[in-house]
Amino acid sequence: MYFLKLIVHDEYLTWNSLNTCICADLKGLDLKTGSFTLRQLRAATNNFDSANKIGEGGFGSVYKGELSDGTVIAVKQLSPKSRQGNREFVNEIGMISGLKHPNLVKLYGCCIEGDQLLLVYEYMENNSLARALFGAETGALLLDWPTRFQICVGIARGLAFLHEGSVIRIVHRDIKGTNVLLDKDLNAKISDFGLAKLSEAENTHISTRVAGTIGYMAPEYALWGYLTDKADVYSFGVVALEIVSGRSNSSYNPTNESVCLLDWVSYESACVATLNS
Ligand SMILES: Nc1ncnc2c1ncn2[C@@H]1O[C@H](COP(=O)(O)OP(=O)(O)OP(=O)(O)O)[C@@H](O)[C@H]1O
Ligand SMILES: [Mg+2]
Repeated sequence: MYFLKLIVHDEYLTWNSLNTCICADLKGLDLKTGSFTLRQLRAATNNFDSANKIGEGGFGSVYKGELSDGTVIAVKQLSPKSRQGNREFVNEIGMISGLKHPNLVKLYGCCIEGDQLLLVYEYMENNSLARALFGAETGALLLDWPTRFQICVGIARGLAFLHEGSVIRIVHRDIKGTNVLLDKDLNAKISDFGLAKLSEAENTHISTRVAGTIGYMAPEYALWGYLTDKADVYSFGVVALEIVSGRSNSSYNPTNESVCLLDWVSYESACVATLNS
C-alpha cells in the first residue's frame, strides 16, 4: 500500500532523489487532493509576500492566500534546506489525502514544481491554539471555559477518529498547541500529519525512530521509542493541562524561575489530596 511504502523509506534521501521519488510516488496515485501550479499559488499569496506570512515551523513558512475563486487558503512552503521536511511532506500528502473529519484540517492539495514543494490547506482564521493561549498581546484570545472545553472535546474527537474511526489507523506523534488550529468559530482541528505513523492492528506497538516535540512526548516513546496511540493520548493530556492552566509546557527553562507545568500539576494535585485526606 502507498502509505506503507512511504514510511518504510527511512534512509536519508537527497533533495534531487527525493524530488524524483515524490513525483514517482505521487504519479498515478488516487490521491484525494487537488494539484496546484506554482503560478496559482504565487498569485494567491502575492508572490509569497511577507505581509501574508502567518507562521513558521520546522518545515518552512506558512502564508495566507486567496485563490481566484475566492477560497482562502494557507500555503506551507517547504524550505529547500529542510531535508527532514522532505520526507514529512510526502508523508503528509499520503496521510491526509484520504482523511476527512470536522476536527482535522483539510488538505486542499499540493504543488511540486521545480525545487518548490508546497502544501495547500484550508485557512484557519484563529491560527493555532498555542497562539490563542500564549501569544503576545496581539495573538492571545480571551477563551471562556465553555470554549476551552469545546476545544478539548474537538481535539479528542479528531484523535479518536485517527486512532479508531478512519479506514487507516494513525498515530499522529506530534500533538501540541501549534498543531491544533482554530477556525473562525474556535472549533479545534488537528494539523500536521507529517510525523504521523500508520498503526497496524496486529502490532501492539511500532518501534520507530523517535520524532516529536520535547515536552509533549510520552515517556515510553521518548525513552524507548515504544509507540502506540497512547503516546498521542499523553500529548493530548499535556495540551489539555495547558488549556486548563493557561501555562505553556514548552516555556520551561531550568535556569530561570519558571515552574515546569507537569511538576506544578503534580504539586497541586498532591496538595488537593492532602486537603482531602
Ligand atoms: N491552515 C492554517 N491556517 C492558519 N494558520 C496556519 C495553518 N497552518 C499553519 N498555520 C500557522 O503557521 C504556524 C506554523 O505551522 P507549522 O505547522 O509549519 O509549524 P509548527 O506546527 O508551528 O511547528 P513544527 O514545525 O514544530 O510542527 C502554525 O503555528 C500556525 O500559527
Ligand atoms: Mg504544525
